[in-house]
Order: sequence, then C-alpha cells, then structure tokens
Amino acid sequence: MSERLKIEHLYKVFTDKQERALAMLNAGKNKSEVQETLGQVVGLDDVSLSVPSGSMYMIMRLSGSGKSTLVRCINRLNEPSAGKILLDDEDICTLDEAGLRDVRRNRISMVFQHFALLPNRRVIENVEFGLKLRGMSAGDQRKRAEEVLSVVGLARWA
Ligand SMILES: Nc1ncnc2c1ncn2[C@@H]1O[C@H](COP(=O)(O)OP(=O)(O)O)[C@@H](O)[C@H]1O
Ligand SMILES: [Mg+2]
Repeated sequence: MSERLKIEHLYKVFTDKQERALAMLNAGKNKSEVQETLGQVVGLDDVSLSVPSGSMYMIMRLSGSGKSTLVRCINRLNEPSAGKILLDDEDICTLDEAGLRDVRRNRISMVFQHFALLPNRRVIENVEFGLKLRGMSAGDQRKRAEEVLSVVGLARWA
C-alpha cells in the first residue's frame, strides 16, 4: 500500500518568534524547559508518522499532549513551525491560498467537536453542505447524502 499521508519532523510552537524555541527543542530541551525559559507553549515536538492509503489511523494521548494541534496542522488551521506534511507526496506546508482551498474542499475533511451542525438547515442539508461547497449538482448532492445517511442508519431523520 502506498502512503497517503506522511508527516516528517513536525514542530509547532505557539508564537510568531519560534527560532529560539526550535533551537532549544533541537538541543534536546523539553516543553516545560521551553515554557520556563521563553514563556512559549510547545504544541508539537518532532512528530513523524505515516498513514497508508485506505487505512484508519487513531491519535490517542493525554489531554493537552497535542492531538488537536497535530490535526489542525494537517489542514493548516494551525501553521506548522517546522517540518513537512506530505499528502500524496505534496507538501501541504508550501501550498498557496488557492492550493490550500482546493485541499480543504476536495481532499481533506474535518468534523469539529463543537459547532458541527448548521441549526438553520435540515439534517440532509447539513450532510449536503460540503458537497454543495465543492460545486456538486443539487441532484447528486441529494443522492450522495441519502446514501451516507442510510449507511449510518439515519435515513429516516433526513
Ligand atoms: N492556540 C493556542 N495557543 C497557545 N497554546 C495552545 C493553543 N492551542 C493549543 N495550545 C497548547 O498546545 C498544547 C497541545 O494542545 P492540544 O493540541 O489542544 O492538545 P490535545 O488535543 O491533545 O488535548 C497544550 O499545551 C495547549 O495548551
Ligand atoms: Mg484536543
């Protein structure tokens, strides 16, 4: 199986002056030491992983360990401080605004823990919404939304 997603030496420090923090991490200092010395929060410290095509990959660790930060780097809701995120061998970190918009619209999806539903739309319209943004025709949207609702046993709530 080929690799769909590959992350190489990813770092995220929550500051716009990250050079000193990155230098400390590279010298082997940890998150607490960086926080004490510079007052900067380290979100990710040298994360590497790869996800083969067609597989499921779960990120599980203690609260505050950086799971959300990692996921938010993959779609660049968080701007990574250093490292590579290769989606089908293309580094997401180097995409311009248009490229990023295309990736977010067509190649990556994210379900947020909160604010996941649009309360002014029906269930089926919520399911259709992402497809609508992609420019799919109304008929195809409805067909696909009905299919996936029945897959998860929610067709009668549509
Ligand atoms: N926007 C932010 N600004 C500053 N620190 C942040 C921000 N988002 C997350 N952090 C910090 O980064 C670390 C990882 O947080 P997070 O990714 O939310 O962890 P998890 O999802 O595993 O609970 C924590 O120390 C958190 O306080
Ligand atoms: Mg989280």
